This record gives sequence, structure tokens and C-alpha cells, in this order.
Amino acid sequence: MITSRKRFLDALACQNSDRPPVWLMRQAGRYLPEYRALKQKHDFRTMVKTPDLATEVTLQPLQRFPTLDAAILFSDILVIPEALGVDYRFRDQGGIELERTVRSEEEVNALQAEGTAERLSYVGKALQQLRSELREETTLLGFCGAPWTLALYLVEGGSPGEGRNLRELLYRAPDAARILREKITAACSEYVKLQCQSGADAIQLFDSWASLCPADFYEEWCLEPIRQIIRSCDKPSIFFSRGAASRLNEQRSVKSEAIAIDWSTPLALARDTVGPSIAIQGNLDPLILETDPASVRAAARRILDDRKGDPGFIFNGGHGLSPKTRIDCVEALLDTIQG
Ligand code: CP3
Repeated sequence: MITSRKRFLDALACQNSDRPPVWLMRQAGRYLPEYRALKQKHDFRTMVKTPDLATEVTLQPLQRFPTLDAAILFSDILVIPEALGVDYRFRDQGGIELERTVRSEEEVNALQAEGTAERLSYVGKALQQLRSELREETTLLGFCGAPWTLALYLVEGGSPGEGRNLRELLYRAPDAARILREKITAACSEYVKLQCQSGADAIQLFDSWASLCPADFYEEWCLEPIRQIIRSCDKPSIFFSRGAASRLNEQRSVKSEAIAIDWSTPLALARDTVGPSIAIQGNLDPLILETDPASVRAAARRILDDRKGDPGFIFNGGHGLSPKTRIDCVEALLDTIQG
């Protein structure tokens, strides 16, 4: 029998001859009653920082849907701003708020990249615990935000809108912008290395706001830092540069094993652009999981037909799941893929 882990690692190596591996969970916990119940007792940050709780939340989706091929660590990309010295919180009405903004050269200089791995050692502990509790056959994914997206949160002080303040910083204070980029990249590199050493099978790098990067800065801000981070990691990586399909050809140059495709981009176009030797992951519109099982089955079928025989395809959402995701829709999805 092919194990989930083998199926996943084979797909990352573009050598999978079985059905595509599938995983889903990105900020996904919220739609599960068992997650909401735990959150009644502990706040988000406590759960992230307590290895026993982070382990429990990570395992929840697998307990409910045992046929998922991978578990993704429960944490958040915002642990990097926190490790650099800027706390975060979620607003009650939705959205993110950082304790302060980072815009001047002085504020950039005050960020502390050294020691990130020590400050985030609780993540290493959670991964080790997960590795020992997960069945050997299940893939364990770590993740990290990409420097461009993390810079947006730091400079904008929260959810980035159109990224006006960071874009302005690029033009008005290029030195401060460079130092900011270098510090975030150094922190991410330490963090990803820690995750690789602690039992993650692969690492996903989320550039969720790549669409806000001005064209002239995409290489310097979105590709080169990712190359650097990938060099610090001895496990396969999955690169997600959301809203930047026009740069897919260049994304190949970071040399990640897989490129994640958002829901606005045709998978066949992505495959043609990246060529046969990089895996592609995606790209069901997660919104469909709020509708009904029949619609989900039809949409999943279309993707499966489109990617039939593709040895480097990983089935995933084209972005994270919303709190309104229906459990019967997730069941219908897994059923259709695993049929
Ligand atoms: O699926 C999982 O639970 C895995 C863990 C995970 C979380 N966040 C937990 C979380 C992962 C992989 C993330 C990644 C993440 N976080 C990204 C990159 C992926 C993407 O969506 O593009 C980004 C941009 C963030 C920042 C973030 N954290 C956002 C935008 C939100 C939603 C805020 C809101 O109010 O809508 C979060 C919160 C968050 N992260 C939750 C979870 C389970 C929900 C917290 C809650 O309400 O309980």
C-alpha cells in the first residue's frame, strides 16, 4: 500500500503514479467545532506557544478526516514579526493589528533578527512532538511567511490594504527598506532551518500579498529572499506567490520543489509555464466549500480531469479555507479525490 507520505514526497519529486495527495488546512481551524471549543478555553497566541496545544490543534483535521495526506503545523506567519520585536493581535471584527508600525530607519534598526530560532523554540518543540505522535506515514508540513508579505504587515501595522506605506518606503528610503528585507529574511532563514531540524517533511513559504509588489521590485523582494531562505532548508519547499501568475516563469528560479497556484490561475497554464520538473499545488477555490457537496464534487472532478496523469500534482485549496467552510463539503471533496 502507498502511504500518504510516500504519495506526497513522490508528487513533490514529480514521480507520483497514484492519485494526487491532498491537504487543505490554512487558517482552516476556524471551521471545525473542535477548534472553536478549544479556543473557548485558550486564546490563539497561547495555543500557538504551547506545544501540547499546538500539537492538539494540528492533529484535529486529521482526526476528523483521516484520509488527508498531510498535517500543517498550527502556528501563524505573524510569529516572525513577534520574534523581531513587534507583537500582533487579531481584531474582534476580523483582520490583524500589530502593536506598532515599522517605517523609519530607526524603527527598522530596532528589529532583532538574531536569536529568532531561540525565541521560536516552542515551534521546534511542537514539531518534534507532532513527528512522534503522527503516524509515520503522514506528511508533516511546516511553513513561514515570505519577507515581502511580512514586511507589509510590519510597515502597514496590520492587514495591508494596498500596501501604500511599504511601497512608499521602497521609493523614499531604499536603505531602510533594504535593511528591513535583510532582517526579515535572516529571521525567516533561521526559523525555517529550525523547522527542518525539528521534523518537518516540507516547508511552505506563503507570499500571500505578492500581488502588491511593484513589478520592478519582484526579483529583489519576492524571489531573491526566497532563494536565500530555501538555501537554509534541507527539506523540499513549496512556494506560494499569490496573485503573481504573470511571474510564474521567474518563480521557477527559486528552485522550490513545488509552486502553489492560486484559484485565479488555470492549472494547465501553470504546468505549461513551469515545465515538467516542478510540482504544482492547487487550486480549488475555497469558497466552493461553503456551497453544497454536489457543487464541490463537480469542481473537484474538473481539477482531477485537468491534471489526470500529472505525476507532480498536489491537490490543495487555491488559498486558505474560510470559517464558513461546510464539513460535508470537505467530506465530499476528499471522497471525490480518493474515490
Ligand atoms: O490551517 C491551519 O490552521 C494551519 C495554521 C495556519 C494559520 N495561519 C493559523 C491561523 C497557517 C498556515 C496560517 C498562515 C497565514 N496566516 C497566512 C498565509 C496563508 C494565507 O492565508 O495567505 C497569513 C496571511 C496569515 C495571517 C493571518 N492569521 C490571517 C489573515 C488570519 C485571519 C484573520 C482574520 O481575522 O480573519 C489569521 C488568523 C489565523 N491563523 C487563524 C488560524 C487558525 C484564525 C484564528 C481564529 O480566529 O481562531
